[in-house]
Amino acid sequence: MAELKRTVERLSEISRKEFADPYTALRDWPERLDPDQWFTSPEFISLCGTEEYERLAQTEKKRLSFLEAVNFYSLNIHGEKSLIEGLARRLYRKDDEDLAPYLHHFLDEENKHMIYFAAFCERYAGKIYPDKKLAFPRDYADGEEDFLFFAKVLVFEEIVDVYNVRMSQDAKLDAVARQINAMHHRDEARHLVFGRQVVKELFQRHASKWPREVLDGVRSYLCDYIVATWREYYNADVYRDMAFDDPRGLQLKAFSHPVQKRQRQTVSAGCLRFLVDSGILPEEPTL
Ligand SMILES: [Fe+2]
Ligand SMILES: [Fe+2]
Repeated sequence: MAELKRTVERLSEISRKEFADPYTALRDWPERLDPDQWFTSPEFISLCGTEEYERLAQTEKKRLSFLEAVNFYSLNIHGEKSLIEGLARRLYRKDDEDLAPYLHHFLDEENKHMIYFAAFCERYAGKIYPDKKLAFPRDYADGEEDFLFFAKVLVFEEIVDVYNVRMSQDAKLDAVARQINAMHHRDEARHLVFGRQVVKELFQRHASKWPREVLDGVRSYLCDYIVATWREYYNADVYRDMAFDDPRGLQLKAFSHPVQKRQRQTVSAGCLRFLVDSGILPEEPTL
């Protein structure tokens, strides 16, 4: 806990220094985007590798790259909404007071992220893709709910950050798309440092007291969550907007394509290594 407290102080200090106004960037965005630009790096397009993608003309590939960016930003908005809810519930909770200074920044920064993700979606696509996640209430063992909350946040943010880092450096991308990815990464780098420490600490604190079936349940739930998180990158609504035949069939086909499987494994590698190295998962799941 002492190490986590030091991290909280250090990250809070940086967050205070980097305190930003998300509306500044928005003011410089153009009224309309140039459709002859990429908005998602081709290797991150969910149909990359499929024959359906290869058959598209260059202009259609770029249109798909725009819709995939709208999906990526929409996923972030939905993830951040539930993240904010969970963080707010944990603010100033007994036994977690030490986390409060950083939870304030975490909340503030996620709120700001939604402002620019939503501004892009609404200004340029006229919509945010709806959330598909379902959550069912259930009972938890001691510490299980907290552990799973922070572990799920971490998985989500680790995957997003790989996209952010790569796309902020991709010179092919439209300037607004590059800027969004760069702005998000700046804050997320701190969220990941915090997330990894908190997840490790909660696991060490609680897992040894969980009966075998609880530990097994936590592990399989987490693996299912990683797969479910990835499934949302293959959005049938995007394929419908591209006027593909059978959007649902294409969703399944793309998800099981070997190029996509390899890509998911590569993007998730850092996150999976962390989960295995810290003893949370016994082995890396196949995605
Ligand atoms: Fe975020
Ligand atoms: Fe974050």
